Amino acid sequence: MERNRHHTLPSAIMTFFLAVMMSGYFTGCTHKEEKVYRIGVSQCSAESWRWKTNDEIMREAMFHDNVEVEIRSAEDRTDKQIEDIRYFIDNDFDLIIANPNQAVPLTSIIKEAYEKGIPVITFDRRIIGDTYTTHIEVDNEEIGKSVADYAMRVLKPHPMKIIELQGDSSMSPTKKRHAGFVDEVAKYSNVQILASEYANWNPDIAAKKTDSLLDIYRDVDLIYAHSDIMAISAEKVAKEKGLSHIRFLGIDGNVDVGIKAVADSILDATFLYPTYGYKLLKTALAILEGKDSLDGARIMGDITVPPLSPVDLSNADILLQQDAVVKEDTAKIEALKAQLDDYWIEHSAQSTLMYAAFAIAGLMLIVAFLLGRTYWQHKRHQKMLAEQCRLIEQERDKQRDLYQQLQEATQSKLAFFTNVSHDLRTPLTLIAEPVTQLIEHEDLPKERRASWLRIANKNIKILRRLIDQILDFRKYENGMLTVHLTEVKFYQVLKDWIGSFDSVLRKRDIKLCLQLSENNDFTMAIDTEKMERVVFNLMSNAIKYTPDNGRISVICHNTDKELTLTVIDTGEGIARAELKMIFERFYQVDRERPNGSGIGLALVKSFVELHGGAIEVKSEKGKGAEFTVRLPIIHLDNALIKDKVNLITADTINDELEDVEALPSVCNDDKPLMLVIDDNRDIQKLISDLFMDEYNVLTASNGMKGLRLATKYTPAIIICDVMMPEMDGLECCRILKSEISTSHIPILMLTACALDEQRLEGYESGADGYLAKPFKGNILKARCRNLIDNRKRIKDLYAGQDVLRKSGKSENTVVSTPKPTGGKDVESDFYSRFIEFIKANMSNSDLSVEDIADKMSLSKSQLGRKIKSLTNYTPVEIIRNLRVKEARRLLTTTEKSISEIAYEVGFSLPAYFSKCFKDAYGETPSELRSRLSRDKR
Ligand code: FRU
Repeated sequence: MERNRHHTLPSAIMTFFLAVMMSGYFTGCTHKEEKVYRIGVSQCSAESWRWKTNDEIMREAMFHDNVEVEIRSAEDRTDKQIEDIRYFIDNDFDLIIANPNQAVPLTSIIKEAYEKGIPVITFDRRIIGDTYTTHIEVDNEEIGKSVADYAMRVLKPHPMKIIELQGDSSMSPTKKRHAGFVDEVAKYSNVQILASEYANWNPDIAAKKTDSLLDIYRDVDLIYAHSDIMAISAEKVAKEKGLSHIRFLGIDGNVDVGIKAVADSILDATFLYPTYGYKLLKTALAILEGKDSLDGARIMGDITVPPLSPVDLSNADILLQQDAVVKEDTAKIEALKAQLDDYWIEHSAQSTLMYAAFAIAGLMLIVAFLLGRTYWQHKRHQKMLAEQCRLIEQERDKQRDLYQQLQEATQSKLAFFTNVSHDLRTPLTLIAEPVTQLIEHEDLPKERRASWLRIANKNIKILRRLIDQILDFRKYENGMLTVHLTEVKFYQVLKDWIGSFDSVLRKRDIKLCLQLSENNDFTMAIDTEKMERVVFNLMSNAIKYTPDNGRISVICHNTDKELTLTVIDTGEGIARAELKMIFERFYQVDRERPNGSGIGLALVKSFVELHGGAIEVKSEKGKGAEFTVRLPIIHLDNALIKDKVNLITADTINDELEDVEALPSVCNDDKPLMLVIDDNRDIQKLISDLFMDEYNVLTASNGMKGLRLATKYTPAIIICDVMMPEMDGLECCRILKSEISTSHIPILMLTACALDEQRLEGYESGADGYLAKPFKGNILKARCRNLIDNRKRIKDLYAGQDVLRKSGKSENTVVSTPKPTGGKDVESDFYSRFIEFIKANMSNSDLSVEDIADKMSLSKSQLGRKIKSLTNYTPVEIIRNLRVKEARRLLTTTEKSISEIAYEVGFSLPAYFSKCFKDAYGETPSELRSRLSRDKR
């Protein structure tokens, strides 16, 4: 739409521009609106009477803007006049005015024009017939009569003898002028027309004819010529002949010719043959405009113009003067007209300029408007774009937030499922494995059987509770969880619930401070099952995170409207950043301190909210946590008031929170040491039971403790859980593998985190093996055995390289320290450094294991265990073996004395050197020397 509008804009501008120009043109030149008529005027000859007629026609035309006149003169040539008229016909002139030179030859061309529908006005002379529109002619007969009358009345030379010089015989004026004259003269008896000759309007012919006639008739009184110029010519001839008495009369009365001749006494009188150029043009226009009359007179057919009075000496001067005035006026009018034309042209130019200026101004206005509009549209467009941009960005941010929320929700859900599966796997393991053991080993001692059964039984309850929680949670998520209210004596009920924790608290030496409003009669309506779960959860959490000998406070009081219950523990507390998420569904409070599936507190919150209450937590890392539940107090009318509603029994609490039994601390030196790191004491117990016959089992409840025990005791193998409080298994494994004192210990990660990426994480942290819960006891045993066997193989590799076999009888005497193949880099580096240090300090007889341990940044016992686990030899044995190996090299390759060599390799007592040497090689150094010299010989 916008585009189209833009597209048509230039044409709109052009249209406007043209409209302005056109309107200017038409308002400035309205006269041009009418049809312009083209009129052709064909004159038969070119002399003063015709010129005058032509001037009048043109002057009249000046007053009509709708006419264009073209005058052609045939100069007395009939053929030329036919051509001229043909030209007007062929060029579609609207009307022809013709003054036919000769009647007969011009009749057909005029007829043709007339019949083609071109109006034709003939004047002065006639054609044959009436194929013309209008014929205008002065009454020539009357003129002829006037001439005769004037001669008879004014000249009076009676008897009178007359010569007549006629025009052209074929022309109507000639005929009529003659006829009128003859008619009038006939009225007088003593008048005689001596001769009447045709001089064809020609002065020369007139002169010739006069000359010959005067030769014949010497007593002529009057010469009457049909035109002034013929009369003047005749007078001249008569004068030359000395015939001064003859009077001369002419026709036409043209000022410059006839009247002047009268004034000059050449002619006696001239008879005006009026020109009617104005009338001709007016008539022509009336015909063209479809009128049939002009100034009240008809215009079609024959029109006769009356002749005017004669001019003789009595009025010739006046006429001359008048004519001079008229001429001057005419000149002025013409000058005025020229001026007017100039003004008009100027005015037109100015008008055009003005309209052009208007048009340009209009155009500029349009352009300005369009520019303004474009600018405004651009602005609006920009604003719109900016707004759209903002909306898109807003939408994008919203999407991003949504995506993030979705990601977080997905992560939380994944974590939830992982945690749920972890929660399920642990009790499942602790049910499955004891049952398997009971089935496979029927001969188990009674206490062991009882212990297995307790573990299984306890975990069945845990599993059931967990499943209940998951189902509740599902109900809550679907909005199906409802409250079933019971009116209870709240404080009594609360005391009972908390009382169930007594035994656990006692066993853990945790002090419980109860601050309750002692109002035993106070009642309120609650969903007992849900509120008991709330209290159980808050108490369980408090107990879990409160160290032995710690303290837990439970504060409860109420107003008329609200009950407040606060549980405060003295545990490690929760980091500020985690506080607001602690009640989020699926949120695992602490990855390093995972505590079940993360639904416990979310359910507590939902249970409290189902009661119309709220829960909040205050805590700081290291300063314990304080959970406060606020419940609105509502009552059930006429309800049975209960004061005992325990569902969770003390046994359940004991089962879930108490350790099954203390770990045995029997330590048998013959058995290798196993370290089990797991926060679940049941798992610890289970594994201890599984391995107690083959290993001395040490246990730790988190990575940190595990790390301490591993560093302290350097166990032969470590079984380590992944998700644990304080330090998780991955971190613990990483540290153990980067510590030289523990890096050789095989670590088997045992965990409920069975996903591939979790396995990968485990291996990346350096774990030697990975086993998912629930595990089978025999598989766990086999995996441990494999790991220890592998370690032994590596150990043998080390042992074979730098030390002599314990049998000591081998001929293997190479004392090189190549890197052991198959060993780990950390260990081969460590071992190389160990060997190099001994070699460099071999001559130092005081070189002690402490010195080496110092150098290696380990304690003496750590070094001892490390070297032993790597090589099966103690550091002292390795130092001694390196010394005897070097001594043997020196004994066989140098001439040095035995005691010299003994000192050089670090033996301070040559006798002890000999003993050690013999232990290693089966012969004393001196026996070797003598054997060598014997062999040489
Ligand atoms: C000119 C003229 C006039 C005369 C008229 C008659 O051609 O001879 O002198 O009056 O023609 O047609």
